[in-house]
Amino acid sequence: MKDYYQKNKLPEAVQPNCPIVQSLKGQKAIVTGASSGIGKEIAIAIGKAGADVIINYASSIKGAEEAVKEIEKCGGKAFPFKADVSNEEEVVAMFEEAKKQFGSLDILVNNAGLQKDAPFDEMTIEQWDRVINVNLRGQFLCSREAVKEFKNKGINPNISCAAGKIICVSSVHDVIPWAGHVNYAASKGGVSLLMKSVAQEVAPLRIRVNAIAPGAIRTPINHEAWATEEAYSDLMKLIPYKRIGEPEEIGRAAVWLASDDSDYITGTTLYVDGGMTLYPGFETGG
Ligand SMILES: NC(=O)c1ccc[n+]([C@@H]2O[C@H](COP(=O)([O-])OP(=O)(O)OC[C@H]3O[C@@H](n4cnc5c(N)ncnc54)[C@H](OP(=O)(O)O)[C@@H]3O)[C@@H](O)[C@H]2O)c1
Repeated sequence: MKDYYQKNKLPEAVQPNCPIVQSLKGQKAIVTGASSGIGKEIAIAIGKAGADVIINYASSIKGAEEAVKEIEKCGGKAFPFKADVSNEEEVVAMFEEAKKQFGSLDILVNNAGLQKDAPFDEMTIEQWDRVINVNLRGQFLCSREAVKEFKNKGINPNISCAAGKIICVSSVHDVIPWAGHVNYAASKGGVSLLMKSVAQEVAPLRIRVNAIAPGAIRTPINHEAWATEEAYSDLMKLIPYKRIGEPEEIGRAAVWLASDDSDYITGTTLYVDGGMTLYPGFETGG
């Protein structure tokens, strides 16, 4: 293995050298938590693929406006909308705004999420509730409004063969336990069965529900895990593919899962994690 590393410099992530295919042309989307990191790049990728996008944010209007500008540069329409995804009234208002701006909705990306870490026996009820409320209740509230709208709208085969698509941004911690982050892992484990149960219920309506489970992706949420050389090198012990992921890579996966190219896929989780879920401790034979 050492010889291999000496011979080959392992490349970082690259932008694929291919033309952007407008696989979402004419579609309308809401992306939650789209003012930063993964959500921002998902929104931009979906916009570049031809969809109009509501850019949801909680506090960072600047980040939301940057995403809007990127989409407008490619000829798409996008609007920022401030809403706390854990607040029912604000979520309902966001879906009403999408209807007002676009007339309908085809895609929801449930991305908004946060961490409030603490050793388990020191975790406060506020830390527990905030994480569960944003990461899990938020996905419930947004998915419920999306399903109502998809059902009401039905299928327009000129736009998509499905009545609607929901993508839940989960995490490798929907299967990997995470000491010191029990509220976060519990929320993502919850997202996994929320996603599958909704997928089962709405599949006969031709509504598809899937999840993307990112591994370590370079965003502000996990800054301390990659910002120094030492931290990065420690992180690599957990990643068989030996590099961190970039938010654009989640964006490309989301476009595919939202497009008709993945029409027969529902109720599944796509791990975009450089092999983090492959028991990296066994990499050298165990
Ligand atoms: N980065 C990773 O390695 C990684 C790995 C696995 C899973 N994930 C998941 O990916 C998602 C995005 O994470 P990220 O790394 O991109 O984090 P990030 O850069 O911190 O972005 C989080 C986004 O969520 C928004 N948000 C937070 N609370 C909200 C609320 N109550 N209502 C609406 N929006 C809210 C933030 O909005 P404001 O900035 O406007 O407040 C921001 O746009 C999360 O669900 C996270 O759990 C990330």
